[in-house]
Amino acid sequence: MCGIIGYIGNRDAVPLLLKGLKRLEYRGYDSAGIAVLTDGQIHSIKKSGKVSQLEVLVDDTPMKGSIGIAHTRWATHGEPNDINAHPHLDHTGRIALIHNGIIENHETIRKVLEERDIPFTSDTDSEALVQLVSAMYFDDDELSFEGAFRAALQDVVGAYGVVAVCAEEPETVLAARMGSPLVIGIGEGEYFLASDASPIVEYTRNVIYLDEGEMVKLTPDNHSISRIDSSEIVSRGSVEIEMSIEQIEKGDFDHFMLKEIHEQKHTITDTMRGRLNLEDGTTHLGGIADFKPSILAADRVYITACGTSWHAALIGKQLIENYAQIPVDVEYASEFRYRNAIINPDTVLIAVSQSGETADTLAAIRKAKNLGALTIGICNVVGSSIARETDAGIYTHAGPEIGVASTKAFTAQVAVMTMLALSLGRRKGFDAGLGRDLTKALHHIDNDIQTILDDDQSIRKVAQDTHMVDNFLYLGRGINFPVALEGALKLKEISYIHAEGYPAAEMKHGPIALIDENMPVVFIAPRDDTYSKILSNIQEVKARRGIVISITDRKTRELDSLSDHLLEVPRTHKHVFPITASIILQLLAYHLAVLRGCEIDQPRNLAKSVTVE
Ligand code: G6P
Repeated sequence: MCGIIGYIGNRDAVPLLLKGLKRLEYRGYDSAGIAVLTDGQIHSIKKSGKVSQLEVLVDDTPMKGSIGIAHTRWATHGEPNDINAHPHLDHTGRIALIHNGIIENHETIRKVLEERDIPFTSDTDSEALVQLVSAMYFDDDELSFEGAFRAALQDVVGAYGVVAVCAEEPETVLAARMGSPLVIGIGEGEYFLASDASPIVEYTRNVIYLDEGEMVKLTPDNHSISRIDSSEIVSRGSVEIEMSIEQIEKGDFDHFMLKEIHEQKHTITDTMRGRLNLEDGTTHLGGIADFKPSILAADRVYITACGTSWHAALIGKQLIENYAQIPVDVEYASEFRYRNAIINPDTVLIAVSQSGETADTLAAIRKAKNLGALTIGICNVVGSSIARETDAGIYTHAGPEIGVASTKAFTAQVAVMTMLALSLGRRKGFDAGLGRDLTKALHHIDNDIQTILDDDQSIRKVAQDTHMVDNFLYLGRGINFPVALEGALKLKEISYIHAEGYPAAEMKHGPIALIDENMPVVFIAPRDDTYSKILSNIQEVKARRGIVISITDRKTRELDSLSDHLLEVPRTHKHVFPITASIILQLLAYHLAVLRGCEIDQPRNLAKSVTVE
């Protein structure tokens, strides 16, 4: 939700900030803006639409400066127009601020300031914050910009990653973090600030992650970190970021999503590197090794997540229950955080998140921790809030995911879930031979993925035949029901075709009413114990002239004759099939969206990292 970037140093800040905004655009893309400090003045340009539209404006009205801030927005308060875009300037035009998050008491602040005849220009909550900083700064001659910034933040309720500059103190950039991430990049005589490391990595690998409740003052040669509620300096060493530039560039692919789908043949191997024990038919997950006894002894295991990660959680439940016979509840984090769930020191909460920053998932973790539960994070972004706030964790190592629709992060989450389930299961006596069957299949998955990618043509053909429809249905049974849910979500997200996922047998209890010759029904149909049942469901769709698209790992004559389209993945273990089948569904959604002329990497209204409730 919103990308923020700041710079202080000797470079020309404008191209650097615009380039940084493009890297952060996946976080929000309804409007963008930039402000630089030059000759004691703040120059700002803002524009609704994509960063490229802002760029055109900046080209027409050149601006220069070596201190600046920039923002790409995902609207919460106020529609995405030019005025509501960030940066927001105070009424004197001497302070500029960018904000990611929500200021919950913005109405009260606005009312108090409007009573003092301070004019507001936008509908945003963020403007209340810059006007408050301004009122405090200009009201009190004794107060520095830093002092006013700190005091204003102490009056604010809500979530923020915030960066501000002031024309009166032009050698300073201030930033603070409460709920929305901020990374400081340390260069030679320069500093960078951003929502994540992607706009920083080409300049420096040396970064500091600001902690919750901290603020930082940057000058070209110095940084000082303190708590927002105290001016005492906090000392913190820097860490090195591992990300490479290639990982965050599209290369020869048309879209990040396509690149990330293709990357899965390597990312899955990265996820499993050093973790598979083929000989003993088990897995080794170093991050949770010490906590395995607590998980095995838990009264109750919850897995919590949002969006695509929630689907990985559903698959995780089936696997953990199957291999380790431990009962697992899966909960939407947004529901879990507010309901009176049974949580005590014998509870384990596993949180799954690509970004590691999702506000609801973080809140669910904090709630469980407060009640004494053991918390475990399954995250992709190293050093993210969820990774840092949980007691232990497993990184998915899928590399940076830029496309808003999650692909490689999802399959990595499922791979981690599979390894976790097996590891717990083997401790509880699950058969070593059967364990070996699974580890062997996991070990070969990169070849299976390559085979799927090589046959992309068949998937594109299905998309060509179905891209004009309004609805899709996805059906699967058992562990493949969440695969159906994820397939439907992927399609909705990027093609805007309405799609629903259902357990195949549930079709009869409602969705069957929708089936006619214009309704494609995707069946996830592996050759497992549910195969004959799925065939009956396919018959039912066929009888109503629905368009049957089957995905299987073993083609039979019957399935072939019943299917309008049959897509095959290489024959594999039934618990590896959800990963390979999902890749087919990702490609299907991708091709359908391309054929419909949709914006692939930045679908309308979505954002990659949802840092507000
Ligand atoms: C957003 C993204 C989804 C993602 C979900 C949860 O909705 O668009 O792709 O699955 O947030 O995000 P997380 O980072 O916690 O996995």
